[in-house]
Amino acid sequence: MTTSQASKESYSPGLEGIVAGVTQLSFVNPALNSLMYRGYDIRDLAEHACYEEVAFLLIYGHLPNQKELDTFNTDLRTARKLSPEFINTLKSFPKNANMMDTLRAAVALLSLSDPDVKNDSHEANVRKATRLTGQFASIVAANYRISQGKDPVAPDATLGHAENFLYMLFDEKPDAYLARIFDMTLIAYTDHGFNASTFAARVTTSTLSDLHSGIVSAIGTLKGSLHGGANEEAMKMLLEIGSPDKAEAWVIDALATKKKIMGFGHREYKTGDPRAFLLNDYAKELSERVGQPQWHQTATIVAQTMEREKNILPNVDFPTAYIYYLMKLPIDIYTPIFALARVAGWSSHIIEQLDANRLIRPKAIYEGPDHLSYVPLNQR
Ligand SMILES: CC(C)(COP(=O)(O)OP(=O)(O)OC[C@H]1O[C@@H](n2cnc3c(N)ncnc32)[C@H](O)[C@@H]1OP(=O)(O)O)[C@@H](O)C(=O)NCCC(=O)NCCS
Repeated sequence: MTTSQASKESYSPGLEGIVAGVTQLSFVNPALNSLMYRGYDIRDLAEHACYEEVAFLLIYGHLPNQKELDTFNTDLRTARKLSPEFINTLKSFPKNANMMDTLRAAVALLSLSDPDVKNDSHEANVRKATRLTGQFASIVAANYRISQGKDPVAPDATLGHAENFLYMLFDEKPDAYLARIFDMTLIAYTDHGFNASTFAARVTTSTLSDLHSGIVSAIGTLKGSLHGGANEEAMKMLLEIGSPDKAEAWVIDALATKKKIMGFGHREYKTGDPRAFLLNDYAKELSERVGQPQWHQTATIVAQTMEREKNILPNVDFPTAYIYYLMKLPIDIYTPIFALARVAGWSSHIIEQLDANRLIRPKAIYEGPDHLSYVPLNQR
C-alpha cells in the first residue's frame, strides 16, 4: 500500500475550510451570522424586495430600476410558457418518479432546444439564466400536477413569480399574505456562496461546458438530504413527531441512536443560520394565523432540545419545511422549490466562473497499492 505525500498537510475532508474561489455574489459571514447578496443583507431584501429583483441583482450585478425590472419581468413571463410538445414529454415521465429527477430530466431536455444552445457568451448566458429562472417554476408546477394525474395550469402574466408558481400549482390565485411569505423563502434560498450544488455547477462549467450542463449537475447535487433534500426530511420528521408533547423525547431518542436531525447544523454557520432566524419569525406568525400553532410549538421544542443536547441550531430548511406544509404545499416538491429559487444563484455563479475561468481540478491523496504486475485473465 502506498500513500502519496501529495498535499497531505493541506488535505481537509469535505474541503472543510478550504478556499476554492472568489465571488462577488454572496457573502456568507458566520462571524456575524449574516448573508449578503452582492452587498445587500438578505433580511433587508426579504423584507423589501421581491424574488424577481433579487434574481436580477444576482444575474446582472445591481438592483434593477423600474424599466429594467419591467423588461426582466417580460422575459421571465415569456419563459414561463412551456410548449405543448414539451408538456407532452413531461407527461411521458413515470408518474411515481422523484420530483428532483423529473426536474433534472426536464432541464436536460430544455438544453436541446434553447435558442442560445451554441452560444456560451456572457450575454447569451444571461439570457439563458433569465429563461431558466422563468422555466423552472413552470416545470416544477407542471411535473407535480402531471404526477397527480392533472393537467398543467398555464401561467398568468398578471402575477409575480411567487404568486404565479402557487397559481400554477393549485389552479387558484393565492392569498397575498401566503404569496409574500413564499416569496421570502425563495429569496432566502436564492444563493449561498460555494455550497455543494453551486460548486458542482462551477466545476462543470469550468471545463467550458455549457450553462445548462452546470445547472443539471447542480440539480443532482441539491437532491441529497445533506443539502436541499433536508427540507423534505425535516417535515417528515415533524410529522413523525406529531405533537409538541412528544418532541423532546423524540429528539433525545434520535440522538441516542446517532440519527442526523434534518434541518439542523451547517458547515459554515455554527452559531446560527441567518436565513433560519429570518424565517423563524414568519413561520411562527403563519402557524398562528392558519390556526395550527402546534407546528411552531413542536419545531421550537425540537430546536431547544437540539441546542441543549448538541449545541446545534436550525438551518434554513427547518422553518421552510413547516412554512411550506402550512401553505399546503406537497412535501415531494419542497426540494424542487429550493431549486426553482436557487437557479438564479447557480446561473450567476456559472456566469461569474466563465467570466474569469480556470479549470477546477484538485488533487487526491493516493492510498492504494502500486507497482503490481498484470495477471493474465486465465490466471486470476
Ligand atoms: C449540514 C451538515 C451536513 C454539515 O455538516 P458538517 O459541517 O460536515 O458537520 P458534521 O456532520 O461533521 O457535524 C459535526 C458534529 O455535529 C453532529 N451533527 C451535525 N449536524 C447534525 C444534525 N443535523 N443532527 C445531529 N447531529 C449533527 C455530527 O454528527 C458531528 O458529531 P460528532 O462530532 O459527534 O460526530 C450537517 O449538519 C447535517 O448533516 N445536517 C442535517 C442535514 C441538513 O439539514 N442539511 C441542510 C444544510 S443547509
